[in-house]
Amino acid sequence: MNPAREHFSNSIHLQTSEDNVVSRYTCEGCEQNVTVYNVEAYQGPNKGTFRPIPYGCKCEDLELGRLVLRRQREILAKQRKELFDHHSLVNSDLLKASLDSYEPTTEQQTLALQMCRHYAFTFSMDKPLNLLFKGGCGVGKSHLAMGIMKALFRKRLNGIFITVPQLLTYLKHTFHDKKVSEYELIQRLKNVDCLVLDDIGAEYTRNDRENWAVSKVFELIDARLGKPMIYTTNLSSRQLYDRLGKRNHSRLLYNTKLIRVDGVDFRANDFNRRNADEESYD
Ligand SMILES: Nc1ncnc2c1ncn2[C@@H]1O[C@H](COP(=O)(O)OP(=O)(O)OP(=O)(O)O)[C@@H](O)[C@H]1O
Ligand SMILES: [Mg+2]
Ligand SMILES: [Zn+2]
Repeated sequence: MNPAREHFSNSIHLQTSEDNVVSRYTCEGCEQNVTVYNVEAYQGPNKGTFRPIPYGCKCEDLELGRLVLRRQREILAKQRKELFDHHSLVNSDLLKASLDSYEPTTEQQTLALQMCRHYAFTFSMDKPLNLLFKGGCGVGKSHLAMGIMKALFRKRLNGIFITVPQLLTYLKHTFHDKKVSEYELIQRLKNVDCLVLDDIGAEYTRNDRENWAVSKVFELIDARLGKPMIYTTNLSSRQLYDRLGKRNHSRLLYNTKLIRVDGVDFRANDFNRRNADEESYD
């Protein structure tokens, strides 16, 4: 050991010996045993003077650790938001939807909401489960799917919400102002913790079946087997089978829990409320 270091280490050792103990206590902040020593200043203007210095308190270290953790969480939350914002294709009326803002009007809707809460609560990448929302137009299927996504964000999971017809338009056309490249989008959709494919089946027409863009969606589902997916559709099982074809339909049903949503069209209801004074829409 070099002489300066030896001197320093010996001095510290001497100064924190039993002879120099002023007091002992347990710190309320970190619950560590703290010993206060009378320590002599080696250098500076106060050289040679003694002052009490506590040893053993971990409060500052803990606070620093908490700060680092908080900062990390903030960065991850920002990344989750950016991932969702940059890659989701979703109608603006759904952006505010949450499980808390869903107001069930039927028993089945109440049950659907309970199932959504349970799904979000028990969501695990280790035990992935898919959901398929089925029901008529405007009953809140997409709303509930978005609500789950928001609940997952709070659990620090990431997710993307894609309205399938919008995805196909996006893939089929060459827009100059595309938010991200197709390659990047598809990669993100394959890897995200939870992917919502909203309105699946709505994009299919007879001619479209062989379309590369349609096959892209199923390439996606295929690549995500074993990773959680949420689908919504207002097609019947028969229609879905006919439109998707046997192989794709089979993938959609694999490890998937069905949630039925009944009720009246929320949008039509809203229209009727706003126009209650009108005699008739015709
Ligand atoms: N029970 C509800 N409580 C609050 N808002 C609702 C409810 N049901 C629907 N909405 C709202 O009504 C609009 C339509 O709902 P949503 O888009 O979820 O319907 P959908 O079942 O997905 O219909 P579609 O089959 O046409 O896609 C949304 O703005 C949604 O937020
Ligand atoms: Mg919908
Ligand atoms: Zn402490």
